Amino acid sequence: MSVVALVPAAGRGERLGAGVPKALVSVRGEPLLVHAVRGLLAAGCVHSVVVAAPVSDVDTMTRVLAFAGSHARVVPGGSSRTQSVRLALGAAPPDTTVVLVHDAARAFTPAELVKAVVARVDGGADAVIPVLPVADTIKRVDAAGRVAATPDRADLRVVQTPQGFRAEVLRRAYDAYPDATTDDAGLVERLGVPVDTIPGHPYAMKITTPFDLAVAEAILR
Ligand code: C5P
Repeated sequence: MSVVALVPAAGRGERLGAGVPKALVSVRGEPLLVHAVRGLLAAGCVHSVVVAAPVSDVDTMTRVLAFAGSHARVVPGGSSRTQSVRLALGAAPPDTTVVLVHDAARAFTPAELVKAVVARVDGGADAVIPVLPVADTIKRVDAAGRVAATPDRADLRVVQTPQGFRAEVLRRAYDAYPDATTDDAGLVERLGVPVDTIPGHPYAMKITTPFDLAVAEAILR
């Protein structure tokens, strides 16, 4: 088994308002990207990481990941998350058998969750995603902001990363669908391939807003 983690980190992170790409925002003295890559490698089952960086920040991200040596590689990302994942996938070694896709913004994901995702694919799953139950009721609204539907909360899940795939399945999905998605597993679903779920972890939260950053600081304290 050869496991490669793709880390889309090419977003501008405007909702965070830090003035630098989100992956370079520091928490406890180190960029989110460093926390994320270190966490992936600490799991012990990820052989290498391919990071998709903003084109203007490839050199900076390469420098901050020097600690990982040949285990981390930085490539220029694209104009959407999907494009960034596509470019990173293209840079993964051809003999890769398992691919994880993991947001740099989920910088404090526990190693146990990474191991659980890899173990599930190693055990035969084509695709696996970590999920959490939904605590709030979710409404679907129309363009005017009026409620259109109230899906049953019991059937809904919040989706996290790392998402894990048999490499051949993810490559097939990216070849088949050129459009953008916020969720790699969604492309695999469209192929008709079953996607398994495993329990996620609160620490795998995505850091999007200044509030999330404050929570991350508190977790690390
Ligand atoms: O914008 P959002 O928070 O959904 O982005 C999720 C992840 O995708 C982030 O880690 C971000 O850096 C990455 N991304 C990317 N390329 C883009 C846009 C977002 O790699 N063009």
